[in-house]
Amino acid sequence: MVKVCQYCGEEYYEVKNIPLYIPETIREIMRFQPRCSCLKIIEEEKKKKIEYEKKRELIRKKVKKYRDISLIDAKFLKSRFENDRYGENYLKFSKRYAKRILDEETFNKGIIFVGKSGTGKTFASSCIANYLMENGKSVLVINFGLYLNKIKREWAEAENDILNSVKLCDLLIIDNFGSERNTEFAIEKAFLLIDTRYRSEKPMIITSNLNLFQLEEKFTAKIRSRIEEMCYLIKVNSKDKRKDANSMFFKYIA
Ligand SMILES: Nc1ncnc2c1ncn2[C@@H]1O[C@H](COP(=O)(O)OP(=O)(O)O)[C@@H](O)[C@H]1O
Ligand SMILES: [Mg+2]
Ligand SMILES: [Zn+2]
Repeated sequence: MVKVCQYCGEEYYEVKNIPLYIPETIREIMRFQPRCSCLKIIEEEKKKKIEYEKKRELIRKKVKKYRDISLIDAKFLKSRFENDRYGENYLKFSKRYAKRILDEETFNKGIIFVGKSGTGKTFASSCIANYLMENGKSVLVINFGLYLNKIKREWAEAENDILNSVKLCDLLIIDNFGSERNTEFAIEKAFLLIDTRYRSEKPMIITSNLNLFQLEEKFTAKIRSRIEEMCYLIKVNSKDKRKDANSMFFKYIA
């Protein structure tokens, strides 16, 4: 009787002198052993595949966790680099930036997009966020006004939870920073939020209708200097794109 490898066809060798105290059925199994490595290689590949799937699942869970507590709406989901209708430089920069975040583990520079309402700051930051989430990076999107309301209502527990996520996510986005009412509470919480991220030494994107000087006036010099140290400044000077979006809408219903 001969047994051959089902993968490469190499003949198995016969093991002689298997001790007789081993039960007959097991001795039968032990009797023929392969010379080739086919089975081992296949086992290893199986193991690797399982490991890979496990890792993918962990990444999926991580991305989902931050996504679930982020402020994400239909508009956000449609904001993708391939849906850009204007081809402006700041968006090209944003695309290069997103790739760098993905490719360079230690790259931790952020961006502050500054400009008038409707110029496309939220669009740019959402494009970056979508691109990174699709590639396994966790992104937390915060609207500072809603954040303040939440921690006012739910107190310390919610604040600790969110600040913990602020520390751990791969990218933090604070959308429309500085548009809320100015209070001592807001200033204190703004500092805590930005300082938490600053200490984590990870990247942060801010969009704001206020320039750095106005942000300093509204909040403090401490907040401005942290933001300046952490972020590239991008001034978005283009026209109000909301008008475009509206005129397209009117054309459609006319
Ligand atoms: N590059 C772009 N391509 C297509 N639509 C855009 C682009 N930039 C902005 N928009 C659209 O224009 C509108 C205003 O942009 P938004 O990012 O909300 O402005 P901001 O955050 O600066 O106030 C939104 O409807 C947005 O989807
Ligand atoms: Mg915006
Ligand atoms: Zn073989």
